[in-house]
Amino acid sequence: MKHILFSVLFAASLAAGHAAELLKPFVPGEIWPDNNGVHINAHGGGILFHEGTYYWFGQHMVAGGAGNVAHVGVSVYSSKDLYNWMDDGIALPVSEDSQSEITKGCILERPKVIYNKKTGKFVMWFHLELKDQGYNAARSGVAVADKVTGPYQYLGSFRPNAGVWPANVPDDRKKPLTEEEAAAISKIHLPGGPVPDYPKESLFRLHHECGQMARDMNLFVDDDGKAYHLYSSEHNGTLHISQLTDDYLKPAGKYIRIFPGDFNEAPAMFKHQGKYYIISSGCTGWSHNPARLSMADSIWGPWKSLGHPAVGTDEQKATTFESQSTFVLPVQGKKDAFILMSDRWKPENAIDGRYIWLPLQFNDDGLPFSEWKDKWDLGEFEKP
Ligand code: GAL
Repeated sequence: MKHILFSVLFAASLAAGHAAELLKPFVPGEIWPDNNGVHINAHGGGILFHEGTYYWFGQHMVAGGAGNVAHVGVSVYSSKDLYNWMDDGIALPVSEDSQSEITKGCILERPKVIYNKKTGKFVMWFHLELKDQGYNAARSGVAVADKVTGPYQYLGSFRPNAGVWPANVPDDRKKPLTEEEAAAISKIHLPGGPVPDYPKESLFRLHHECGQMARDMNLFVDDDGKAYHLYSSEHNGTLHISQLTDDYLKPAGKYIRIFPGDFNEAPAMFKHQGKYYIISSGCTGWSHNPARLSMADSIWGPWKSLGHPAVGTDEQKATTFESQSTFVLPVQGKKDAFILMSDRWKPENAIDGRYIWLPLQFNDDGLPFSEWKDKWDLGEFEKP
C-alpha cells in the first residue's frame, strides 16, 4: 500500500515538474522503493553524476540463490536528489546467445560507468566470469554507449595488462617464472582468500604474459581527467591500480600492485583535499568482515594502510554494519561530502540485498570514517 501511494505521489510530482523530496531521509538497510514502488535492483553499484542527474548502475539480481548470477544485466536508475530513484531499465542486457561471453548465467559484477569528455561516450567496466566456470576467468568486461542510460554495446573482455610489468616492482622481479617455479605454484590451493603459503611475489609474474586476474573492481576519474581501474588481482591477494587509455576503453600500460598478500576486495577510491583514499574489505565472499582504509599522496603510491574506517560497537566494526563497500560518491555542490555506498548481500535471495549508505565523516586528523545511522539526510553535511 505504501508503495502504491509512493508511486502515485511520485508520478503526480513528476507531472507537476518537481520530483524532489518525496522519499527522505536515507534509511540504511530498509527496502528502498523506486518510482514504481519496487525495491531498487542495482547491487554492487556505482553512481555517475552527469548534467545535473545522478545515474546509479548496478547488478540486476533475481530471487533465490540463483539470483547471484546475471540473468538480466546491468540496471540503471536516475535521480536528482539521491533519495528518489527512477527505474531507467537495463543499460546492458546479458545475451541470449550461448556463445556470447556475457551470455545469460555468466557472473557480471560491480559494474561502474564513467563519462569520457573527449569522446563524448559513456564507458562501463565490470567484473566478468564466464558461464559455468565459477570465479576462474577473473576478467574485465567493457561496454560503451552514446547515451548515459544505454543501450551499452559490449566491446569484449580480457585480463588486463598482458605483457606489462607493474611500475612499482624492482627490475630484478620483472621476469617470467621459470617452469619449475610455475609448476610449484600450480600445486598451491588458492581459494581467493588468505592461505598461509600464498605466493605474494610470484603470481603477477605467472600471469604476466596472459594478463592479470581482475575480480572485484572500481573506476576512478581524477581531476585531470585521467581514469583508473582498481581491481583485486593475483587470486584476490593483491590490489592493482591501472591507468586507462584516454578513451577509457583499455589499460594504458601503467599499473602498480598494492598491499601484496593482504587480500583486499570491494575497493572504492575517492580523493579528499589532495589525498587519495581506498575503502576496501577483506575476502570472505558474501559474508561481512571489517572494512579497511588506505591513503596515498599520489595515486601511484606509496599507499599506507590506516586501519578500519567503521566506527561503532565491536559487532559493527567486525561486520562493517553487515555490509561491503561498493562506491564512494562525492555529493554534488557540497564541500567534504561523500557517501559510502555498501551492499548488505542476501546470497540466499539475491534480489533482497539491501543498500547501506552512510555519510563519510572526517576526524580531527582529517581521516574519513563512517558511523551507523538509522536515518539521515544530506543535511548531515551542513553540520559543523
Ligand atoms: C565477494 C565479492 C562479491 C562477490 C562475492 C561472491 O567477496 O565482493 O562481489 O564476488 O564475493 O562470493
